[in-house]
Amino acid sequence: GSQDPQDYHIKRQKSDPKASLTFPVTASRYDAPFPFYRRPAEIGRFSLDAQRCYHGDARQLRYYAPPPMEGPTPGFDLRDGYPDRYVKRDEDVREGLDHLLKWVAQNQKELQTDDKGRPLNADFVTWRGHLTKVLTTPYETRDGWLLAVSLFRGTLYISEVETEAAREEREHRSELLKELAYMGYKFEQYMCADTPDGTPDPSGVVNTNEAFCTVIRTRLGTHSLLFSGEVDCTDPRSPWPDPPSCYVELKTSKVMHSLAHRKNFYRQKMIKWWAQSFLPGVSRIVAGYRGPDGSVVGLETFETMKIFQLIKEDPGCWKPAVCMNFCAAFLAFVKKVVTEDNPKLVHLFAWEPGHPISYTVHRDSDYIFLPDWYVEAMST
Ligand code: A3P
Ligand code: MG
Ligand code: MG
Repeated sequence: GSQDPQDYHIKRQKSDPKASLTFPVTASRYDAPFPFYRRPAEIGRFSLDAQRCYHGDARQLRYYAPPPMEGPTPGFDLRDGYPDRYVKRDEDVREGLDHLLKWVAQNQKELQTDDKGRPLNADFVTWRGHLTKVLTTPYETRDGWLLAVSLFRGTLYISEVETEAAREEREHRSELLKELAYMGYKFEQYMCADTPDGTPDPSGVVNTNEAFCTVIRTRLGTHSLLFSGEVDCTDPRSPWPDPPSCYVELKTSKVMHSLAHRKNFYRQKMIKWWAQSFLPGVSRIVAGYRGPDGSVVGLETFETMKIFQLIKEDPGCWKPAVCMNFCAAFLAFVKKVVTEDNPKLVHLFAWEPGHPISYTVHRDSDYIFLPDWYVEAMST
């Protein structure tokens, strides 16, 4: 039965005072010392192949292979191969948490060691990308989000729902933005090899179905987390040889010609780069700077743990502690709100810039995201 969520919320507010709770997002409220964040540990890996099929191994892991000299012009043409050597993942397929849940179901025996009688020793299971959005929320001024939450056998699962605005944006994406997205993937191809001592092959096809994902366990304050995220490559010559520290995140950005431009880049873009890599403990981010003709005019390596030093001189910049404190507080809010253990009950948390977070409650709706096969696998 699909009841109108708005009506439902209003009715709930009358009978259940808990439902009228909203959650504030203002950055200044979370300006406190950095919270406890346990060093992220990799507990598993999986891959998605060229057909987007799941494999419980690292077959799609690529190896960091930068050009011999970090010179001014590595000679990359990021437009090369567009659109003829481009196989784009079908974004109409909403995968939800399915690939991650498959990994959990296949590895549940190793995850059981818990005294609370849960099949899974974690308070939260989600994608790293969803947590990145939560972390950056106090500073986000453009894009809102919707996060669906279900409590199942003692673990809270968080799965993003595409907003109306995001779907509009995706369905009407300009040709320019489509090519820019391709260029980000093309940069990965120029920087990665298939073997530890190999060299990149830019003559191949860019296929965005392919992905290598790490599964991470960590703790933020009182919340134990299990999440997975896509990893661009591993550096076989990394000063930190073990995963996840040996992983490298690759990024492209427009070349900067002024200090003002760089300051703006630190404020707007670096927060997303930092959050994405800090969460899983990826220690380096390598930026390729795009010239107007689509060539890469320079490379720059950022150490994730040193980014806060770059930004702290600017008082108008974002603060890592605010992001982390906000995330910890939001997760505590989710724990307080979602207390009925039921895989067919979904609380939909909604946020728009300039507003507090609110939520609606949905029983047996289209928002259900824990598949029957998963509920069955974790119940036996
Ligand atoms: P860049 O970020 O270098 O531009 P990731 O950096 O997370 O590994 O993602 C790889 C590439 O996917 C990005 O490269 C970008 O081209 C594309 N991409 C990621 N998120 C996107 C989004 N929300 N919209 C459009 N393209 C996106
Ligand atoms: Mg990536
Ligand atoms: Mg990347």
